[in-house]
Amino acid sequence: MYSELVKFIRKTFGVEKDFIPLHEPRFFGNERKYVLDAIDSTFVSSVGAYVNKFEAMMCEITGAKYAIALVNGTNALHLGLILAGVEKEDEVLTQALTFIATANAISYCGATPHFVDVDKETMGLSPSLLKKHLEEIAIMKNGVCYNKNTNKKIAACVPMHTFGLPLYIDELIKVCNKYNIPVIEDAAESLGSYYKEKHTGTFGLIGTYSFNGNKTVTAGGGGALVTNDENIAKRAKHLSTQAKMPHKWEYRHDEIAYNYRMPNLNAALICAQLEQLEMYVENKRELSDLYFEFFENDDKIELVREIKDAKSNYWLNAILLENEKERDAFLTFTNEKGIMTRPIWTLMNKLEMFKDAPKADLSNCESLENRVVNITSSVRI
Ligand SMILES: Cc1ncc(COP(=O)(O)O)c(C=O)c1O
Repeated sequence: MYSELVKFIRKTFGVEKDFIPLHEPRFFGNERKYVLDAIDSTFVSSVGAYVNKFEAMMCEITGAKYAIALVNGTNALHLGLILAGVEKEDEVLTQALTFIATANAISYCGATPHFVDVDKETMGLSPSLLKKHLEEIAIMKNGVCYNKNTNKKIAACVPMHTFGLPLYIDELIKVCNKYNIPVIEDAAESLGSYYKEKHTGTFGLIGTYSFNGNKTVTAGGGGALVTNDENIAKRAKHLSTQAKMPHKWEYRHDEIAYNYRMPNLNAALICAQLEQLEMYVENKRELSDLYFEFFENDDKIELVREIKDAKSNYWLNAILLENEKERDAFLTFTNEKGIMTRPIWTLMNKLEMFKDAPKADLSNCESLENRVVNITSSVRI
């Protein structure tokens, strides 16, 4: 079966012998034109027409009222957490199965991640398991949620739409609302993914995106924060530009802040990429359908697909193998044959930095950690 899959991938991507990476960026639109235009304009840093254009495009794509262009997805999360009110010594709920950036951003605030389980079918934070966990550990004092085991404030929740697959985000928001916990959606992987026809990243108080080179569309490196809250949007822009007070020549800053603004050069690239987004997502959804047909009659390997009412961008296709041994055999075989495949992340609670962080029962995360593998997912030319 593994060799059948290798043949199938080579045929589907039209690559006979060469190495096939997991996910390659594609540049067949206006990328060169816009980047050269940015160079010619001399506006290559954090002020320029493409930065504004990018923010307008993000509002249009996501349906959010405001979008702020940032340097990457990690600092978009950091800023989002600050703006949601997360402070030193707080706890922030998030899933144990995620990319390290989610947990790192929480740490930048001096807060501690508090790990919760995912649903098996979405691989994203589980509303029902979060509800159960909060019923056990949460206590409300003056409308603020605390962890009664640690006496720390639970200041926010950061769910993540794994590999572009939307999680049950509306249910999750309901649970968090009951405890007055603001939600910052880590939508780094899910630009172009929708749940109940609403774009991922727009359900909570704040949503964040990444435009790293490995994402569906890329700025080289880049990020964005979206919100419907005007004050948060204003604060995001102010804090991402060293809190400089608007003035033609004076350098006056009114608080300690960050240099988190996306440069115009990167914005030029992402504007051209965003023009292709719909076509890329369509292409990726077709690829997932092809994989689905391939694995349909296989009782040992399952392709992970979107849940009902979700439309995934299928950024990275994921398969579930029977157990750790099969997973390792699969990884070895495919990588030796020049097809890059990759296991899902080590659980955050198993990393040295987070091993003492509070956590719920993580049975689903544990089971997925040893079985999930990503397979070739680039846009086919
Ligand atoms: C889930 C998740 N969160 C955050 C990030 C951070 O984004 P960036 O690499 O742009 O900092 C990434 C991707 O890299 C990611 O996959």
